[in-house]
Amino acid sequence: MLTFAFTVFLLLVSAFAQSPRILIYSATRGFRHDSIPTAIEALQIASNTINVRFDNTEDQTLFNDQNLARYDAILFLSTTGEVLDDAGKTSFQKYLNSGGNFIGVHSASDTLVNTTFYERELGAHFDYHADLQEATIDVVGPSHPSTNKLPRRWQTRDEWYNFKSNPRDLGAVVILSVDESTYSGRSLFGLCVIIWTLEIFRIQTLGLAGSIKATHTQRVNKYRMYLTRCHVLYFVAWYQDRGAGTSSGGVSGRSFYTSLGHLNETWRDETFMGHVLGGIGWALQANTTKAFNSSALVGSDESSLTPTESQSGISGTSDTTGTHTPSPTSNNATVPIVYSALLTVILSTLAVALHLL
Ligand SMILES: *[C@@H]1O[C@H](CO)[C@@H](O)[C@H](O)[C@H]1NC(C)=O
Ligand SMILES: *[C@@H]1O[C@H](CO)[C@@H](O)[C@H](O)[C@H]1NC(C)=O
Ligand SMILES: *[C@@H]1O[C@H](CO)[C@@H](O)[C@H](O)[C@H]1NC(C)=O
Ligand SMILES: *[C@@H]1O[C@H](CO)[C@@H](O)[C@H](O)[C@H]1NC(C)=O
Ligand SMILES: *[C@@H]1O[C@H](CO)[C@@H](O)[C@H](O)[C@H]1NC(C)=O
Repeated sequence: MLTFAFTVFLLLVSAFAQSPRILIYSATRGFRHDSIPTAIEALQIASNTINVRFDNTEDQTLFNDQNLARYDAILFLSTTGEVLDDAGKTSFQKYLNSGGNFIGVHSASDTLVNTTFYERELGAHFDYHADLQEATIDVVGPSHPSTNKLPRRWQTRDEWYNFKSNPRDLGAVVILSVDESTYSGRSLFGLCVIIWTLEIFRIQTLGLAGSIKATHTQRVNKYRMYLTRCHVLYFVAWYQDRGAGTSSGGVSGRSFYTSLGHLNETWRDETFMGHVLGGIGWALQANTTKAFNSSALVGSDESSLTPTESQSGISGTSDTTGTHTPSPTSNNATVPIVYSALLTVILSTLAVALHLL
């Protein structure tokens, strides 16, 4: 009898134990995805599988110090445009500095476009997307809870985002990229090759002329910029062990971003749900918030949970895949001009041919 009562007691305790809390923010000031309610519902239904509690809002006044401090993560769900005023941004920055975690889904990368700390916490801003269509995603990078259950090549329907910068520059680890040969509407690749080779030629020339180091560096940077402009960043999802949006002196939590999630049907797809829930669960285990750290400054503080998923296999921010970004700076000043010129002519011809195809 006593044992029975104790069991009931334990069951009650576990039923009422506090879980980590996540604030879903889905305000839009630009395009509004009609999948937002579907997404919120899907997350709410799945919340107990990863032991979290979701609150959702579109009220930017809830981005104040006191309210944000109650959450273990803030999830930007398909937000667009300027969804926070200055006070909201200040509180959000403070939250991130205090160990708060960030999760961004789909057009979370098309919001707060001029807010540097947000861009850093996110990893990269959206540039443009190819038409909604099926394509094949490659699982790349180290093993991660958001990709562990995915097939190595995963065919799905969504918008294929291109980004304005390379999240790897901020230390992000890319874990999904889309195979650009499996969908149409990709970039002006041929044209890009012409621009790049011309740039290489100029870099080499300046590099060998050798006199002005500053000019040389500038050219290298410009070259990187051209790479970005030419849209070769076919990334789909990435994470940061320590979100780069924190100001110096702050405690950084984790950051996870996936560009998938456009359609209602996406949120009814078990494979996608496994991906996004894996990312959310991973972000919480930064151990920088109260759910998992009694000395933390933010988060749900009544939690009696211990981290559930094993984090083995995730190590540091090293990323060995690097297949999508050509390395422009290797041999920058060592290849003789004549080879460089020759290369330019050959590649440009090839590029024109490709572009005209
Ligand atoms: C997606 O679902 C929402 C309700 O959750 C509905 O209002 C909307 O029409 C759906 N969109 C499409 C394209 O079916
Ligand atoms: C962002 O900055 C650009 C360039 O300064 C400006 O044209 C644009 O209006 C700004 N957008 C917002 C939403 O502040
Ligand atoms: C957080 O704590 C768990 C459990 O102690 C541990 O497995 C995990 O590695 C920790 N994560 C970090 C980032 O320290
Ligand atoms: C726990 O939180 C404190 C305060 O934010 C932080 O300094 C500490 O590093 C955290 N512990 C872990 C294991 O992350
Ligand atoms: C080549 O470019 C890299 C990266 O910008 C730079 O670190 C290196 O100094 C350059 N090499 C020379 C010889 O200038």
